[in-house]
Amino acid sequence: MLGSMTSWRLDGKAALVTGGSKGIGRAVVDQLVAFGAHVTIVARTQDAIDATIAAHPGKVTGVAADVATQEGRAAIIAAAPPVLHVLVHNAGGNIRRPLTGYDDATISQIVTLNLLSPLSLSRELHPRLAAAKGAAIVHVGSVAGIVALATGVAYGAAKAGLDQATRTLALEWAKDDIRVNTVAPWYTRTDLVAPVLAQPRRLEAILARTPLARVAEPAEVAAAIAFLALPAASYITGQTLAVDGGMSIQGLAPAP
Ligand SMILES: NC(=O)c1ccc[n+]([C@@H]2O[C@H](COP(=O)([O-])OP(=O)(O)OC[C@H]3O[C@@H](n4cnc5c(N)ncnc54)[C@H](OP(=O)(O)O)[C@@H]3O)[C@@H](O)[C@H]2O)c1
Repeated sequence: MLGSMTSWRLDGKAALVTGGSKGIGRAVVDQLVAFGAHVTIVARTQDAIDATIAAHPGKVTGVAADVATQEGRAAIIAAAPPVLHVLVHNAGGNIRRPLTGYDDATISQIVTLNLLSPLSLSRELHPRLAAAKGAAIVHVGSVAGIVALATGVAYGAAKAGLDQATRTLALEWAKDDIRVNTVAPWYTRTDLVAPVLAQPRRLEAILARTPLARVAEPAEVAAAIAFLALPAASYITGQTLAVDGGMSIQGLAPAP
């Protein structure tokens, strides 16, 4: 019953998190397990998968696979549970260049990882999500899909595409009681952006653009993803939630 504490729990429910071995995805796994879910994680590196399983004995299962390949996605489908309550499309990445520095293959690689892979996996897992009768998909997008940033156009366009896929799929799958939402992070302290945050001038520019004047910790982004996965969020679908310290709403701030 909504309003009771059970709507803030995932006991007995099955989740799948791509990129669940590190960074934001690992923090999502920690939170979903704390809510009572059993989580299947996907990543390419077995060692990091094993470390995540060891941190949550009996609560996490892993599959070593590349979401960006057909074989990898087939392995994920084979390892996914028959009834899937929560699907978090978190694996993503970027190769930063100006458009004139990209060849077609590199654009295709970035779009495949960040947009095609989640759509393809959602399609294949649709029957198992529908079987859950109240499933939630959460896309991990980026503020780079909302405002223009120096990330390179392929990543920004792919993440913007994910936002639109969220709205379209939310509409398409409402009849199956599958909710679809996006969480769009700004800079979050993970391996992915460690090289950027290690540059004092880049970090200074980022903080100057962020009203809360700090980058996010992975758990702060994971909390929004976990919330959207909970029964407590049962009337929220088709939305993009920026978890960005206020970056995307900043207009002209008063002089300090
Ligand atoms: N960190 C930020 O500041 C930030 C900001 C905006 C958006 N995001 C988005 O947030 C998501 C997570 O980023 P993060 O910073 O947490 O990244 P991260 O620390 O680099 O972790 C990425 C995770 O995804 C896995 N992964 C990467 N490519 C994969 C593939 N092709 N197939 C399967 N697994 C793969 C990695 O494991 P393996 O390497 O072993 O495969 C790892 O578990 C991404 O979608 C990213 O675009 C991040």
